[in-house]
Amino acid sequence: MNNENVFEESAEEYDRWYEDHLFLYRAELAALKNAIPSGRAGLEVGVGSGRFAAMLNVYCGIEPAESMARLAQARGIEIIRGYAEKLPFSPGTFDFLLFVTTVCFLAEPLIAFREAHRVLKEKGKIIIGFIDQNSEMGKSYQKKRESNKFYKNAHLLGVDEMTGLLDRARFRDFKFFQTLINPSITRIEIPQKGYGKGSFVVVQGVKK
Ligand SMILES: C[S@@+](CC[C@H](N)C(=O)[O-])C[C@H]1O[C@@H](n2cnc3c(N)ncnc32)[C@H](O)[C@@H]1O
Repeated sequence: MNNENVFEESAEEYDRWYEDHLFLYRAELAALKNAIPSGRAGLEVGVGSGRFAAMLNVYCGIEPAESMARLAQARGIEIIRGYAEKLPFSPGTFDFLLFVTTVCFLAEPLIAFREAHRVLKEKGKIIIGFIDQNSEMGKSYQKKRESNKFYKNAHLLGVDEMTGLLDRARFRDFKFFQTLINPSITRIEIPQKGYGKGSFVVVQGVKK
């Protein structure tokens, strides 16, 4: 559970990435918006500096790194310090749970998904946004991982591995959206359904 250290030490640098890559950020937001149920009570796990939660009407986040949590609080997110693998909530609390580029930093993603299942209401949704290991950006991150302090400790997953874990945690009825099909362009991409072309994939699963 100790991958938060680099985020603790370099929260502002992490947060600035979004300003330096506005088109990528907005494209990711657009893809996530397709999968987020509107007007429902949600929690972002590993909410970081709150860039996504604040724009997606997710008002509550779990975050272990204090310096990240402070940035998210400044964006109006209620933060509970904690870990994905042991969520401090009663069963059946939320309509949806969101994970954005967080799963690759978890030592035990299956435990985190089982926890997500536990705290979701019946038919609640899990929404995962992630860089596909097999995509252009996924391959580039893995090639340069030693020189990237944030991704050095990341274990990127492919779509099959991600859905395999979600299935084991009893999520079903998967829907997919993708973006960053061309990550170098300087306009916001319109997200597409499916996966296999975009570097950023959103998968939504339903609690069964
Ligand atoms: C790449 S950042 C993503 C932050 C935010 N979701 C975003 O997309 O901007 C990963 C976040 O996961 C947090 N994290 C690391 N290990 C965690 C764990 N075991 N449980 C919950 N969050 C964790 C880190 O502190 C960090 O804020």
